[in-house]
Amino acid sequence: MADFINSFWDLYVSGLVAFGLLFCLVVLVTNMTSKESGEPKLQGHVWDENLREYNNPLPRWWLYLFWATVIFSIFYLYLFPGFGNRHSNPADPEKDRGLRAQYAQEVFDAEGTYGPIFARYQGISVETLAKDPDAVATGQRLFLTYCAQCHGSLGQGSRGFPNLTDGDWLYGGDPETIKGSISEGRAGMMTPLGGTLTADEIKDAANYVRSLSNLSHDAARAARGRDIFTGKGTCLTCHGADGKGAVAMGISMGVPAMGLLGAPNLTDSVWLYDNSEDAIIEGITRGRNAGPGSLTNNMPAWKDFLGEAKVHVLAAYVYSLSNK
Ligand code: HEC
Ligand code: HEC
Repeated sequence: MADFINSFWDLYVSGLVAFGLLFCLVVLVTNMTSKESGEPKLQGHVWDENLREYNNPLPRWWLYLFWATVIFSIFYLYLFPGFGNRHSNPADPEKDRGLRAQYAQEVFDAEGTYGPIFARYQGISVETLAKDPDAVATGQRLFLTYCAQCHGSLGQGSRGFPNLTDGDWLYGGDPETIKGSISEGRAGMMTPLGGTLTADEIKDAANYVRSLSNLSHDAARAARGRDIFTGKGTCLTCHGADGKGAVAMGISMGVPAMGLLGAPNLTDSVWLYDNSEDAIIEGITRGRNAGPGSLTNNMPAWKDFLGEAKVHVLAAYVYSLSNK
């Protein structure tokens, strides 16, 4: 995304523009030279029994207008600049009027206008900011631009993308953790267990997981699955012995080097992914964010792209969603 304006696109755009102009000129010139004298000829076709059309030249006034627009467009495109990035002058920033310099100028101007507002917000705690309607409105605009495509325009989430409004958290809903999620990004890692467990054991474990949130299940399988969950399957190391998830277990029980675990609570009715037996089996078999062959799903890191101040305002907006 960083650079659409490399030299290939520059030439490509210039070529297209030049071709378009040339085409207009050819149309104009061929129409100028086909002067008709005497009786105008008829076009070949006939509609509605007797409706015919003369092959008259274009009206003069229309033709001159056409010439004028073509000539205008040449100047316009040169100044715009429509012939690629002609005005770029990276060696001398003072004289650089290229697209990159224009963009940098606009960013600079926007920083001048909005920078002080964000700087002021940054000095206010997330909890307090979440009660300030202006700050929340600013956060919402940022959210709609950068976050809504995954989390939904109201933060309601969808399959694979957590709901941010329900007070149920993979990583934690306190201001610092929300900020951490946005700044650093998240990629909850679940080890693939297809190599450790047999297909039957995985099916048992899936039935046990479904029993935890009162979904239909095979009772005999679920009973065996319970032992797999706390034993051979090692599920408990991340989801907790009772399946209540990493947040409920407290971070200290996770692997400190891995940071926050993000293993979901499996006992509630909130599901991040599809809760059908087949989908759960696939998740256990392939694992998540655990290298080749596993399923992947990430929260991107925003610290570098948006900067601390905007992340702070976004955290306040996200916090406000579940703390009305
Ligand atoms: C490309 C899709 C995508 C975008 C864009 C995105 N997120 Fe996320 N986000 C995710 C996924 C996926 C997760 C869950 C990560 C996991 O399962 O480990 C997540 C997790 C989170 C969490 C942690 C939720 C919890 O339960 O602990 C927060 C907070 C969050 N996102 C906020 C944001 C904000 C704010 C933005 C905009 C700056 C944003 N996200 C943009 C995909 C996205
Ligand atoms: C290394 C830690 C770890 C282990 C071991 C682990 N999980 Fe997970 N599990 C996770 C994480 C993290 C996620 C969330 C993945 C994501 O955010 O994309 C998850 C997701 C899930 C989900 C999806 C939950 C939802 O809401 O959609 C199920 C079901 C699940 N695990 C069951 C199990 C079972 C059963 C086992 C044992 C056979 C197991 N897990 C072992 C960490 C683990």
